[in-house]
Amino acid sequence: MGQLKLSTDAWSSQTVFILAAVGSAVGLGNLWKFPYITGENGGGAFVLVYLACVLLIGIPVLMSEIALGRAGKANPVQAMSNLARENGASRLWALLGLNGVLAGALILSFYTVIAGWAVSYFVQSISGAFVDITASEAGTHFEGLMASPYELLFWHTVVSLATIYIVSKGVKQGLEKAISLMLPALLLILLVLLGYATTTGAFGQSFNFLFAADFSKLTWESVLIAMGHAFFTLSIGLGTMMVYGSYLSKKGSIVKASLWIAFADTAIALIAGLVIFSIVFANGLEAGSGPGLLFETLPVAFGQMAGGWFFGTLFFALVVMAALSSAISLIEPVVSWFDQNWGIKREKAVWILGGIIWTLGVGTVLSFNAWQDVHFLGERTFFGSVDYLTSYIMLPLGGLLMAVFMAWVMKKDQVQAQIDLKAPWINWLLLDLKWLAPVAVLVVFSSSLVESDSVIWMIALSLSVYAIYVWNALKKEGGEKI
Ligand code: PFF
Repeated sequence: MGQLKLSTDAWSSQTVFILAAVGSAVGLGNLWKFPYITGENGGGAFVLVYLACVLLIGIPVLMSEIALGRAGKANPVQAMSNLARENGASRLWALLGLNGVLAGALILSFYTVIAGWAVSYFVQSISGAFVDITASEAGTHFEGLMASPYELLFWHTVVSLATIYIVSKGVKQGLEKAISLMLPALLLILLVLLGYATTTGAFGQSFNFLFAADFSKLTWESVLIAMGHAFFTLSIGLGTMMVYGSYLSKKGSIVKASLWIAFADTAIALIAGLVIFSIVFANGLEAGSGPGLLFETLPVAFGQMAGGWFFGTLFFALVVMAALSSAISLIEPVVSWFDQNWGIKREKAVWILGGIIWTLGVGTVLSFNAWQDVHFLGERTFFGSVDYLTSYIMLPLGGLLMAVFMAWVMKKDQVQAQIDLKAPWINWLLLDLKWLAPVAVLVVFSSSLVESDSVIWMIALSLSVYAIYVWNALKKEGGEKI
């Protein structure tokens, strides 16, 4: 093993940190995944559960993750090991970092495939393919892309190479600037689309679909999906925010940063949802049509509106950039682990890891055609399985353990040195992290797994992990905290 290094990099300012974190949070999760899973899970009630998860679990875990990174000053594996040592806890906590590092690589393997769809749409849009396109033509266009493994593989390769290239140059070189230009542009285009959505005649229906809660449509499975999505969209539970937090100076406010990240991320998802469902309802499309939703609806809007060619091209360019700024953050934990703990330089590490991740991505490419009927976890395709395993198991489990570590294992003065909250807020936060967040994750986990009659051992495993750590932490704690 090479010489161990801690993170020595630093963001230029707190604002840059917030931008980079927002860049990680805002991505395909907001523009592509949120609308389609909302459509599949019946709308309003699902959105409400998702918002509650962001507020009650997402924001507290986000604060914890950034704080753990800043206090541990290293990649997720090393940061957890450092903090465990400082707090007299088991070094097995490093496994929590490992879970994140692995989840990041797995998510990236399908993320580059989906981002590839956006690159393909960007190119198509430039060539004018969407001018005056009808809803059924847009559907056929998307199906054509899905049916062609070579085309998908080509775009997956393009995005993988772009990600590898940027990360090999160092995250901050160029990224800071790109994000500060891109985010305002993305918001602007979304607002233009929102304006268009109000002219479709189905805006009210879309609004109702998103915000009128009908709880009869809600199942435990959809509660798990809402919670998993809160983790996915905020980029938490994995170590990205930990690595980003390790580059944050002592003076930066973690509370302010977390609130900004959560606000920007949620607002962008909701606007994207409003736009997409207006188009869905105005054109008699199917809200629950799945992963193709964004790609089957937006070309129709761009095809009809004045200046649609320009806005369409710009929009897909921005989707690609939003995806890239998230893709970079997905590989950063594992790259910094290779660099800091294994002495494999960033440039080399990124190519090795990029190659492995690209290969895994081939499974996702095939999930939409040749392996369409090949099932892995339960009834899921390869893509469905990787998505399920990461978003709905690894991230929530990672977030749960981060909350547990923060609230049960870390000394209260160490927590207060990181989280700039005064009483009673800090006590509320610790209470949330100590009980609400872990118990909520476990309850949702257990019930959904039982309902979907798979992997029952996961319940036993997660419950026993939680019990062991709480017991361990209680022994060490000595009544110092609430
Ligand atoms: N938050 C990103 C999105 O919504 O697209 C995806 C993501 C990035 C998840 C980084 C996790 C992560 F660590």
